Amino acid sequence: MSINFKTVHKWHPRGALISALLSLALGFFAPGVVAADSASAPAASPASEAKPAPKIVSAADKPRDDATLSSEDEACQKCHDKPDIAAKMTDAGESLSMRISTKDLLLSMHFETSCTDCHDSQDGKDHGKVAVPMKSKREYRLSYQNACTTCHKKNVADFKDSVHAVLLKEGSDKAPTCSDCHNSHTLRSVKLVEPIANVPCANCHKEIFRAYSEDVHGLERVAKGKKAPLCADCHSSHKIQAASLGEGIKDACLTCHKDSVAKHEVWLPNAGQHFEAISCAVCHAPYAQRRVNLRMVDKVGGKQILETKGVPKFDRLTKAADGGDFGLDAKELSSFLKEFNLENPGSKAILSGRLEVRSGLQSHQLSEKKEAIKDCKVCHEAGAVPFVSVVLSIAGPDGRPMLQGVEKEVLTSAESFGSMRGFYAIGSTRIKLLDYLLVLVLLGVLCVPVAHLTAHRLFKRKRDELNAARMKASSGTTQK
Ligand code: HEC
Ligand code: HEC
Ligand code: HEC
Ligand code: HEC
Ligand code: HEC
Ligand code: HEC
Ligand code: HEC
Ligand code: HEC
Ligand code: HEC
Repeated sequence: MSINFKTVHKWHPRGALISALLSLALGFFAPGVVAADSASAPAASPASEAKPAPKIVSAADKPRDDATLSSEDEACQKCHDKPDIAAKMTDAGESLSMRISTKDLLLSMHFETSCTDCHDSQDGKDHGKVAVPMKSKREYRLSYQNACTTCHKKNVADFKDSVHAVLLKEGSDKAPTCSDCHNSHTLRSVKLVEPIANVPCANCHKEIFRAYSEDVHGLERVAKGKKAPLCADCHSSHKIQAASLGEGIKDACLTCHKDSVAKHEVWLPNAGQHFEAISCAVCHAPYAQRRVNLRMVDKVGGKQILETKGVPKFDRLTKAADGGDFGLDAKELSSFLKEFNLENPGSKAILSGRLEVRSGLQSHQLSEKKEAIKDCKVCHEAGAVPFVSVVLSIAGPDGRPMLQGVEKEVLTSAESFGSMRGFYAIGSTRIKLLDYLLVLVLLGVLCVPVAHLTAHRLFKRKRDELNAARMKASSGTTQK
């Protein structure tokens, strides 16, 4: 059985008016709920047409018969394009080839760039005759971090605040510099469609690449060569942020799958709100393990709170609060929040729940739509598995989450409910009062305005005007 919610619920003007007045008075607004109306939305184009396919730029791939080296560069290449030029040994014991292929360079996008545009510290007289010590390949690469700035200001600026750049600044010996993703001497146009294994991210995020290459997008990419997203289409290439920070990735999904809200709304009531509270992978990676992430957000504006640099609070305060070491219970959680807010007079941290998959790897195991989770009971049933694992998180200084285990009972405790920005799933996290409401709904005796007033008064949260009507409807579809 499938129920279209547009036909089930009824608009109740008085209930809506009361809610509107109430929410105005209390200053509560539903945070950015995407309210798409499947009836009025224009017929959107399928995802496959959403973004033009990258073109094969043949000009960039053809040998440049006409390109030649300048005479200065030719002088360098007398030695550097010699097949037998000796490789250099670094102090770390690695061997680094000194051979630069003229042919590859002339085929590359840098065919007009001179060696000395990037290399200006090679001493004219002694160069090549006196060996200069080199600590390690990594150190050498790092010394070229500023070599691209003069010509690629925009990319350098974009990169500056990325998670990779922050890691570099913190001294990471694994985070990428420009040269880890682009080989200056051989790079082709980024518009060329290459085998997906050539995507630079695969060098470091091997497991994720493997998962991705076997999921619905990776397979589409291999089969059809283009269109389906590569890493940078979801994460961006230079402004890469920690994956769970903000809504950037969800927005990326929706840029290609433009009509998603409308398409889900047909069977999923309030799809926009489900999208806010559930990451796409929860339903689309059907074999993934799931959990509830209670993200610390600012009460005003709802932005995720960043751990302060230098004076870390999260670890210290959660450790102090966690008496039993089994994860925070409701009491410990609320005393942690109190302490945290005391130490951060500027911010007021509350919790915003999100259902997500447990590992980043599993976010890259998206399946075809027919395998996606459609059964409401997976979430809307007492003891539903996704709600058994609960964590508390703050965004670390580089945006990556710092986690603390939380007892699952926190979700059902009236004590912690006050500090949560209203995240619950009817029936599964059994807050007693909600259950009571649910029972009434199931019995069909609840009238809409009363439900609103009760909910608003008790939880001080602006919920959808037709909450109760939808609850009623949801109990209908659950029976399918
Ligand atoms: C667009 C900038 C750029 C141009 C043009 C360029 N290089 Fe490089 N080169 C680099 C960077 C960056 C590195 C160090 C990073 C790396 O590759 O690990 C490097 C490294 C090298 C190395 C060390 C070996 C290696 O592969 O790391 C040699 C030798 C070298 N370049 C020679 C040349 C010569 C000769 C030319 C001209 C024919 C040239 N380069 C043109 C950017 C450039
Ligand atoms: C006479 C041959 C010769 C010429 C000409 C020459 N090189 Fe080299 N180059 C070498 C040798 C040999 C090494 C390895 C030196 C060592 O072991 O320290 C080297 C190392 C390098 C390196 C890597 C180490 C470093 O110092 O960064 C770069 C980059 C480089 N050359 C660029 C150039 C450029 C640019 C030119 C032209 C302006 C040039 N070379 C001209 C022979 C030459
Ligand atoms: C983590 C890997 C990664 C790092 C680090 C990286 N890039 Fe890129 N870059 C990419 C990818 C992937 C693309 C192509 C995808 C796209 O954006 O369309 C790209 C595209 C480009 C382009 C061509 C397209 C454009 O936006 O103009 C330039 C130029 C460029 N990068 C320069 C740089 C410079 C300079 C740095 C260092 C500040 C850098 N990149 C660091 C991955 C990287
Ligand atoms: C002297 C100027 C100059 C410097 C320095 C330079 N580049 Fe470039 N780069 C160019 C030019 C010119 C192109 C040709 C395409 C264009 O106009 O963007 C190019 C193209 C590229 C592209 C391919 C863009 C595309 O559209 O496919 C990448 C990636 C890139 N450079 C990376 C780098 C990196 C990384 C460095 C530093 C190690 C660097 N460049 C240093 C001038 C430079
Ligand atoms: C279809 C969009 C999409 C594509 C394509 C994609 N990712 Fe992701 N990526 C995601 C999502 C969604 C998450 C999880 C975000 C969250 O926690 O909400 C994620 C998480 C990550 C993480 C964090 C992992 C962790 O442990 O938390 C990394 C690293 C990552 N991706 C790298 C990559 C690489 C490398 C590629 C290419 C091989 C890639 N991604 C391709 C959507 C994508
Ligand atoms: C030279 C190695 C290297 C390359 C290349 C590289 N990364 Fe990373 N990346 C790292 C390291 C190291 C970290 C920090 C450890 C971690 O979280 O995996 C990281 C972290 C990340 C994160 C944040 C993880 C989180 O928890 O949210 C994302 C997202 C990410 N990378 C995406 C990419 C994408 C997309 C590309 C290609 C455009 C790429 N990386 C290329 C080394 C690399
Ligand atoms: C509550 C589970 C759930 C969530 C959350 C969810 N989906 Fe879906 N999605 C499904 C199911 C089930 C289908 C298959 C519907 C059908 O076949 O009738 C589907 C279908 C799709 C399709 C195929 C649409 C078509 O008919 O062509 C796309 C694309 C899609 N989802 C993207 C997304 C994106 C992007 C997100 C996150 C913003 C998301 N989904 C969140 C369950 C979900
Ligand atoms: C660059 C565009 C692009 C982005 C970004 C993108 N997708 Fe896709 N997606 C595609 C294409 C192309 C296909 C394969 C053709 C199709 O079925 O529409 C596809 C297929 C799918 C399917 C399978 C649909 C089916 O019919 O079985 C799902 C589910 C899906 N994507 C979900 C997501 C999610 C979730 C995200 C974000 C994490 C995302 N997509 C990001 C382009 C994109
Ligand atoms: C993957 C888990 C999951 C699935 C599957 C799921 N939901 Fe939900 N649902 C949630 C969560 C989590 C919330 C709480 C959202 C919030 O409070 O922000 C929610 C909220 C709701 C709400 C209340 C919305 C409101 O206005 O407060 C209704 C009604 C609902 N779901 C009905 C359904 C129906 C009907 C289905 C099956 C067609 C379904 N859900 C499938 C997780 C799920």
